[in-house]
Amino acid sequence: MFYEAQVGQPKGYEDYAYRGKFKTGADGRYWFLSRKPVDYPVPTDGPVGLILNGTGRHSWRPAHLHYLIYKDGYQTIQTEMFNSDSQYLDSDAVFGVKESLVIPYVKVDDAARAKEYGFEGPFYEGLFDFVMKDDASVKDAEAVYSERASMSSS
Ligand SMILES: [Fe+2]
Repeated sequence: MFYEAQVGQPKGYEDYAYRGKFKTGADGRYWFLSRKPVDYPVPTDGPVGLILNGTGRHSWRPAHLHYLIYKDGYQTIQTEMFNSDSQYLDSDAVFGVKESLVIPYVKVDDAARAKEYGFEGPFYEGLFDFVMKDDASVKDAEAVYSERASMSSS
């Protein structure tokens, strides 16, 4: 699987394939359905490729999901959560893995839960709680990130 910037938009997507914007519930809880991430190679046709080739490193990134979490009054979190079953956790091409960012995806074979989520058959579940730190100086966080998002889509 690749980012749309690498291969263009997948069929059925007008923009921002495999991305989403979500709000937590009033209690701060969140959940979403997604495809289970897979390992992928970074492009090697530019300067990154020269560095990787020059240092004898491969171009693979371990499977992950990116997160940008913000709320007024709290420090923004920008991070990645890595699949514990990736074969590239110890050799990420961009050195992004920390043990605290690795989560297991547990296979769930529960027809009632699958139906509750709107599909059939077994699925994988990855659980992670983010904890935000207070920072009273953060104001209008949504406006800041909405502006950045609109700038990157033009
Ligand atoms: Fe990524």
